[in-house]
Formats: sequence, structure tokens, C-alpha cells
Amino acid sequence: MTIPTTNLGVMEWVKEIEELCTPDQIHWCDGSESENQSLLDLMVASGTLKKLNPLKRPNSYLACSDPSDVARVEDRTYICSISKDDAGPTNNWMPPAEMKKNLKNLFRGCMKGRTMYVVPFSMGPIGSPLAHIGIEITDSPYVVVNMRIMTRMGQRVWEVLGLKGRFIPCLHSVGMPLGEGVQEVAWPCNKDQKYIVHFPEERSIWSFGSGYGGNALLGKKCFALRIASVMARDEGWMAEHMLILGVESPQGEKTYVAAAFPSACGKTNFAMLIPPKAFQGWKIWTVGDDIAWIKPGWDGRLYAINPEAGFFGVAPGTSLRTNPNAMESMKANTIFTNVALTPDGDVWWEELTETPPAELIDWTGLPWTPDCGRKAAHPNARFTAPACQCPTIDPAWENPEGVPISAIIVGGRRTTDTPLVFQAFNWMHGVYLAATMGSETTAAAVGKVGQMRRDPMAMLPFCGYHMGDYFRHWLKMGKRVPTPPRIFHVNWFRKGDGGEYLWPGFSENMRVLKWIIDRCTGHGVGVETPLGWVPRYQDLDWNGLDFTKEQWEKLMSVDRESMRLKTLDHEELFLKLHDHLPKELLFERELLISRL
Ligand code: OXD
Ligand code: MN
Repeated sequence: MTIPTTNLGVMEWVKEIEELCTPDQIHWCDGSESENQSLLDLMVASGTLKKLNPLKRPNSYLACSDPSDVARVEDRTYICSISKDDAGPTNNWMPPAEMKKNLKNLFRGCMKGRTMYVVPFSMGPIGSPLAHIGIEITDSPYVVVNMRIMTRMGQRVWEVLGLKGRFIPCLHSVGMPLGEGVQEVAWPCNKDQKYIVHFPEERSIWSFGSGYGGNALLGKKCFALRIASVMARDEGWMAEHMLILGVESPQGEKTYVAAAFPSACGKTNFAMLIPPKAFQGWKIWTVGDDIAWIKPGWDGRLYAINPEAGFFGVAPGTSLRTNPNAMESMKANTIFTNVALTPDGDVWWEELTETPPAELIDWTGLPWTPDCGRKAAHPNARFTAPACQCPTIDPAWENPEGVPISAIIVGGRRTTDTPLVFQAFNWMHGVYLAATMGSETTAAAVGKVGQMRRDPMAMLPFCGYHMGDYFRHWLKMGKRVPTPPRIFHVNWFRKGDGGEYLWPGFSENMRVLKWIIDRCTGHGVGVETPLGWVPRYQDLDWNGLDFTKEQWEKLMSVDRESMRLKTLDHEELFLKLHDHLPKELLFERELLISRL
């Protein structure tokens, strides 16, 4: 195979990795249709993929992973900065030289019997001033076909890279060399050794042992968040775990917002929201559902791009009722992972239909019936779908300059205390709200589900440096631009005493979004409370929804004593970060306590 690049750095790095990993062959990816098809065919033949019924789901495939490899492995994820202090107390750390030595031992010969793929990709529209290039070396064809959906992958990246262009080297192996008695399996991985390692100073990523999601598709969490957050700190921009959407009014006025919610808290649903019928003429446009790269623009506002080109969405819970736009996005050309297979060759997962099919093959390959007592799909099952297939994809989603952000929304899954919505008094107060946000945990990462954890800016598992310094960077960014976005806190998940949700959510979130937009454009009314500015009942548009003032009061009520205790709870995270914590956040905390 001829080498498609003249980039000296790439050639040198590929040679070095080839010598270390000793694959049987190297495949330089061009991103073409024919290359993609031959990889898909190869994986159907090896049993990694099942081709779905083309009449039901054209050009789509199902992969089922090893049951031990189903989510991000946070306890195996490392930030190996030179100084431990730089990684901070919320990241795993090891001295970079020691970790490198470790990794080299693991990677030595790890691609024996396999093909090593060299995958050039751009995070962000190719050539955009906000975009960055990565090269992923992987021995997983599953990773290649997913990267082709999730990023701009292929020949054009080699062209932009040229002779001397810079790139982020991303090395990945499933960690299962073949031969010496080891036979190929449908989902190769390493059950004993997994390492997801970032070297922030070197700006490189080494991932070993897992083939799943963010552990393996290195453009996403590893590059676009952990490494990019360090680049952003050093270069004066922001890499955030945020969706981006545009709200268009009946008059055609468009306002963009970015929103940070922890993993699997309905980000994809919110990014593709369909306004209620009564909101005639209003439209939501989707720019991204997971990650935002944000930079100051020429006019003193912050501009954002979605660095990704696809959605890697959680399947269970997604349906025509909860998110018709996501359903439309995955109608064809989609890779499903860990969902169930129907007898007619389509896919199914919990809550896709009200009545489950009478029989299925579940994600582990076993026959399944509704009364068998097991879930048909894994709770972290995913669909990988091209963003351009989303009916609400914003016409400006590939604008190289990005879109101007008027509001930042933060929030989590809080079943008690936290009201539906409130607005920060100013940027500094907003940073405090974002820094202290918390959520009940979900299945996106390995570990307990349903426990409360603080997740500042939804970045706790994704920040490539000390969280205290990250807060300081946020404060600095607010001072750098004359008109920073307004910051809002939302909670769609508050429950009543009987365990019932107090807010219908989904489309009805439009009512909250409209108030937020009104606040940004100067038309919205809010009243001052200890938590921030809040709408009164009459400040929301209730057209088409039967929601009483009593329900509203319950949803928005604040128990001052309970809130004060919750606020004292912030102490735990703040103490952990104390030696890097900006004092502004301590002041904000004192102010809040005295207001309460
Ligand atoms: C994701 C996550 O997959 O946040 O987006 O875990
Ligand atoms: Mn995410």
C-alpha cells in the first residue's frame, strides 16, 4: 500500500508504532465508501457485526461487545502530566515516564496477527480555524468504521496536514494479539488490563485493552475533551462537555445556547427538541449533542463548533415519543452496539416501543422474551449515526467560524430540592453554579448507578488538568469577552413525595428554553431569589399545557434549610481542590449561604 501522506511527523510516528506493536500489515485509511464497505464485510465475516435487514435499516449493522467491555472505565483512565499537582485530586495519575514504560510493555507485540489501521481525522469542519487534527492508530476495524461516522475522516485530512502540519497522536489497541493459541473472537479486548492514558504536555493518547465507545473512539472524550481542555487552557479557549442548539423564533430570529449535563441525562433529546404544538413557528436546530469547542469571536462574543460529525447516543429510552429526530437520524447508515436483534433483522431496546416484541436475541446473544427477567439491550447500548441525517441539523452546523453562544445552561439529575430553572446573577455566580452542579450517576461509566456525585460542568471525568485551575480558566474567559453568555441552571428531574416527576420534560422543556432566550434578548422577566433570577408562573408560556400554579409552586419551591445543608455539602469538593480553588468561588458560596 502506498503511503498517502508526506507528513514527516506522521511517517516517523507510524514507523515507531509499527516496530513496537508488530502488526501483520498496515492499512492507511482514505475514508472512501469502498474502504468502509470492505471493513464492514470483513467484520460481518468475522462475526463482529451482523448486517441488519436492509429493508428495515439500510446499510446498518449491529455489534455486541464482550460483556466485560460495555462502558468507559474511569478507574483505568489516567492524566499523566509531569507534575501530579497538575492532574489534580480528581484524576488518576502516574509519573509519565513510569506509565510510558508500562504501556510500552503492554503494547509490545500487541497487534500480532492483526492489521494496524492509520486513521486521519479532523475534529471540527476540515480547515476551520477552530478545528484540530488527530491520527488514530488502531487494530480495531470497528473503531475505524465508527470514527468515519463520528469525525471527518479520510484523504482530505492528509491534504490539510501537508508536510509539516501538527496532529494529536492517538494510539489504540484492543490488547489481544493473535497466535500462540489465541484465536480471534467477535469482540476482542483485554479482560485483565485496560489503560486509557493521556499525556497532556506531549498532547498524546494511549489506550489499551478496550474496544468500547469513549475508551476506543479516541477523537471523542480523550481528544476533544481531556487533551483539548489542556490546549484550550493554554491557548485561551474552552473545550466543554456541552450540546449546542439554536432556537429560531417565528420572526426568524436565531439564538444559540450550549448546555452541560452529565452523561446520559438527556443531552441528545434536548439537542433535538421538538417544540410543543402550541409553539407555532418556533424551531430548534441541532448543532451538536455532546461536545462544544468555544472561542472568543471578532465581536466579543463566544463562538462554538461541534467538533464531532456524528452522534454516539444512548439507545435505551430513545423512541418516537422521546426523540423522533434521533430515530430519524439512525434510520440508515448506523452502527448499533449492544442492542437486541428482532426476528426480522432490525434492532430493539427498552422503551423503543410500548409493547416489547414477543421474542428477541438479546445483546449477549441469548434468546429473550418479555417475561425472562433480563434487559434486552445493555443500559449503555449505543447508536453511532451521522449528524447530517438529523432532520433538525442546523444549516450552520459546519460553519467554520462556529455559532455565537448567548446562554450556557447547566444541570443534572436531581430528584429533590433543586427547582426547574434559575438564572445566575452574573458570570462569576454562573461559574459557581456550574462548579457545584451534581447529578445522580448513570450507566455511561462503569460503577454504581443512582448515586449522587458532584460533576462540575459535567467535566469531572473529562478534564485533562486540575479542576481548580479549570474553574479559574472559566472565570478568566468571562473576563476576556465583553458579553459572555448568560448562565442558567435547570433540573428536569425533580420528583414529588410520591416519587412522581413534577415536570413533564421533553418537548415541554421548550417553555423553559423560551424564557431563557427571552432573558438573553432582554424581553424576559425574572424575579430575584436567593438562588438567582427565576421566572414567575406568569412568565412562562403555558399555551397548550395544563399545568397549574400549584404544580409550579411545588416545582419551583426552595426549602432554605435543606438548600443550606446542600450548600455546605459543596465543602467536600472545595476542600479536595482547596489549594487551586479560585477564591471567587468561596466568596460566592458565602454569599449564597447568607442569602439563604
Ligand atoms: C458520552 C458520555 O458517551 O458522556 O457522551 O459518557
Ligand atoms: Mn457525553
